Amino acid sequence: MKGLVLYKGKYGATKQYANWVGEKLDATVVEAAALSSLLLQNYDYLVIGSSVYMEKLVLADWLKKNGDLFKNRKLFLFVVCATPSTDKVTQDRIISKNIPEAILANCSIFFLPGRLDLKALNWLDWLLVKFAGRFEKDPMKRKVLLNGINEVKKENITTLIKEIEAFALTDKLL
Ligand SMILES: Cc1cc2nc3c(=O)[nH]c(=O)nc-3n(C[C@H](O)[C@H](O)[C@H](O)COP(=O)(O)O)c2cc1C
Repeated sequence: MKGLVLYKGKYGATKQYANWVGEKLDATVVEAAALSSLLLQNYDYLVIGSSVYMEKLVLADWLKKNGDLFKNRKLFLFVVCATPSTDKVTQDRIISKNIPEAILANCSIFFLPGRLDLKALNWLDWLLVKFAGRFEKDPMKRKVLLNGINEVKKENITTLIKEIEAFALTDKLL
């Protein structure tokens, strides 16, 4: 089965995960902006990667706009962010705010831990993070906002890869 990985991020974490997923599955990796219905015809499944800023997926508008292209297609969506894996409430809120109902039906969603490199941020993002850090009450989240974090690791894609491989196998057998 042929897979297409589409992604969009800002500072490289999502791109890194997209490239690892592409390597592991021998799938084509392209930036989400390159999507076209013609391109989609050549692939059996889609993996979409997006990072999160102020609880908004950078691909939220793109997902809405291209919803029709994804109808009746199996999607694997990976969301790259700083929200800890234990914070299911925030994860659910990010999903419900950003992913159209029509897409949710055929979509498996994976949260992957991201990277916050304070030195790499543009001045506005830096200011937003510092501001949020000052007012954050949760000590763990506050530490991340004030010091940054790098949780981007290849092993984080293991569950996503397993699920895609299982899907490809079942589809072959049916
Ligand atoms: C200004 C700013 C806002 C952010 N907002 C959120 C957020 O609302 N929720 C979250 O979990 N992570 C948030 N993050 C963390 C990013 O999602 C994380 O750094 C991610 O790895 C970025 O991936 P990218 O480099 O591919 O864009 C924010 C980061 C910045 C710099």
